[in-house]
Amino acid sequence: MPKGKFIVIDSGEGAGKTLQLEKAKALFGDSLVLTREPGGSPYAEEIRQIILKSPNSGQADAKTLFALFWAARADHLKNTVRPALEAGKTVITDRFDSSTFAYQIIAQGATELKDFFWQMRDFYLGDLKPDLYIYFDIDPVIGLARKNKQGGAELNHFEAREINFHNSLRAGFKEFIGHVPHTIIDASQSVEKVWADFSAVLKKNL
Ligand code: TMP
Repeated sequence: MPKGKFIVIDSGEGAGKTLQLEKAKALFGDSLVLTREPGGSPYAEEIRQIILKSPNSGQADAKTLFALFWAARADHLKNTVRPALEAGKTVITDRFDSSTFAYQIIAQGATELKDFFWQMRDFYLGDLKPDLYIYFDIDPVIGLARKNKQGGAELNHFEAREINFHNSLRAGFKEFIGHVPHTIIDASQSVEKVWADFSAVLKKNL
C-alpha cells in the first residue's frame, strides 16, 4: 500500500497554479514530488506532445482525447506516482482525472461517457485515489485575461476556446469535486493571499 499523501491541484485556465506549486516545492523540498498531467513520466510526456502540440490536435474529439488522457495517466501512475508514494513522499500533481471530467466530459460535451468515466477511474486508479483535490476556482473572464497578459507561450487549443467552453469547464470541476475529498481556493485573490490559503491547506494535510 502507498504510504505518502497524494494530492491533486486543478483549475481552469489562468488560475496561477504554476507559481503556487513552485512556492510549495521551495517550502517542502525533497519530501515533495511535483508532477503534472498530461505527462509526468517519459512516455506520458510524449503523449502530452501529441495531445497539445500536434498540428492536428484541434481536430481530436472528446472520445479520442478521453482515451489518450487515460493512457498517459496509466503510465504516469505506474512510473512516477506509485513509486514516489511507496517511498513515502508526498505527491502533488498539477491536473489529474478532475481535468478529464471537466474538459472532455463536460466542456467538450461527451456526457455519454460520464458513467464510463467513473468505471475507468476505478479501474485505472485502483488503490491510488487521491487523498485530496485542491480546486483553484476563478471566474474564466479573469483567468483568461491573466493568461493573455502573461503573453509569451501560444495558447493551446483548449485555452483558445470561447468563453462558454470555459464557463462549462468551471461547472464541470464543481460537479466533479462533489464526488471526491476536496477543498476550494479562491484563485482570484492576490498571489500572496492564494499562497496563504494554499500553504495552510498543505500544512494541514501533510
Ligand atoms: P497545462 O498543463 O498547460 O494546463 O495544459 C494541459 C491542457 O490539457 C489544459 O488545457 C487542460 C487539458 N487537459 C484535458 O483536457 N484533460 C485532461 O485530462 C488533462 C489532464 C488536461
